[in-house]
Amino acid sequence: MMFRDSFKYYKSRNPAPDLSNVIDLENLDCIRVRNIKAHITGEEIEDNFGLKSVEKWKIYELLDIPGLIFIQNPFTPNGQRYWITRCLKDYSKEPYKLNIDAHNILNNETWWDICFQTSERAKTLLPKLRWATLGYHHNWDTKLYSENSKSDMPTELFGLTSILAKALGFSNFKAEAAIVNYYRMNSTLAGHTDHSEMNVTAPLFSISFGQTAIFLIGGPRQEDPTNAMFLRSGDVVIMSNSSRLRYHGVPKILPASKTPWDDNREESKKNSMYNCDDWCKARTYIAEARINMNVRQVLKPGQIVLY
Ligand code: SIN
Repeated sequence: MMFRDSFKYYKSRNPAPDLSNVIDLENLDCIRVRNIKAHITGEEIEDNFGLKSVEKWKIYELLDIPGLIFIQNPFTPNGQRYWITRCLKDYSKEPYKLNIDAHNILNNETWWDICFQTSERAKTLLPKLRWATLGYHHNWDTKLYSENSKSDMPTELFGLTSILAKALGFSNFKAEAAIVNYYRMNSTLAGHTDHSEMNVTAPLFSISFGQTAIFLIGGPRQEDPTNAMFLRSGDVVIMSNSSRLRYHGVPKILPASKTPWDDNREESKKNSMYNCDDWCKARTYIAEARINMNVRQVLKPGQIVLY
């Protein structure tokens, strides 16, 4: 099926789609993959940025989509809670840009401060957060980045993607822009290609938390055949080399059958990487939501500024 038809098929509620052709990296029987060995060793990252030790990572390249690399949830449960809380509490406020900025509803308050109280305002505002841009802000109208519109990249997100990149042999990757997408259970993300970056040879990192997505990946053109795959909490997809400019989108969010963000809660309480009251709030959100952190390099190697 071409991208548009596939999107419509998986988005449909009635009739509900047959999911038996959706690529499931938890079940490798029917998929052609190449196993990839990480280029770094465990001691370099144990517990760093919420990652499991590198020996435990399962990394695959899909042979039918060259350059599309998949790391099956390399995060510890503590790490999942940490990143979910970061996205909801810290990346949803200044200096980052949010879709809700345009509506002038925040009046010097933050989305996080308002949304986890019991009020009518909280109920209406909570589902309105749809994206945040960090680093170079993606301009959705012009589809351009500019030196006049940027914030610092959060150091921990820079650090996380540097490690992931290094593990895959992309040792010069520099995270310079990110879009955090917030999905409710009925949200979708229309098909698109990511071609705004000056540097489209650097890989793109997509990190998912919370409920499960059906992720569609087509070819460079709308008409090309399209594959569907499940993305679960913690999964990392890397669009590199010839997969970097393929059409992709999210037609459906499904309830997750497992909730790794709830695992080992008691034992990690002592040295958790987040504040426990914050996690209680974030946990109610993620029960009905999905978050995707999409991280890019904008500049070419050696390039200092845009233009
Ligand atoms: C994107 O690639 O733009 C986001 C995809 C996702 O949410 O998985």
